[in-house]
Amino acid sequence: MFDHLPTKRRNILRALVAGALTAFVAPFAYAIGKFLSFQGTIGGSNTAKLSAADLTPDSPSKLVEIEGEPVIVVREADNSIRAFTATCTHLGCIVSYRPQMPGFYCKCHGGKYDVNGINVPGTRPPSPLTELVVNEQADDLTVSLTPKAKSLS
Ligand code: FES
Repeated sequence: MFDHLPTKRRNILRALVAGALTAFVAPFAYAIGKFLSFQGTIGGSNTAKLSAADLTPDSPSKLVEIEGEPVIVVREADNSIRAFTATCTHLGCIVSYRPQMPGFYCKCHGGKYDVNGINVPGTRPPSPLTELVVNEQADDLTVSLTPKAKSLS
């Protein structure tokens, strides 16, 4: 295609054409990759699996990620295991579990939530964390992004 040009110009033009083709193809390759990875999440990887034994009195919480969403799984003082979205509802920092409060704490601006994920009045978070469904099968825990139904009590 560029055979009539001197070698140096020919190489530069070939590099430019290759770069332009790469720039044109890359977004399609990215979109196809995202599509295929989404297909892979159907049927299971939209959950996080962990062991109840991972949640000990010394380390009663664990941060996991489900579809890019940070989720905090906690073993409470009564041994119940619960999961909540871990993104602070103020400005999006990640909360941590503080059994001594007890509840969740956001170190960015001192945001606090109680053990039910309810934002503590007087602190920055404007709304609660969302409690998520945890399925327990013996020692195996499966957490999904499905919000837990609220009890009517
Ligand atoms: S981001 Fe959590 S309190 Fe501000």
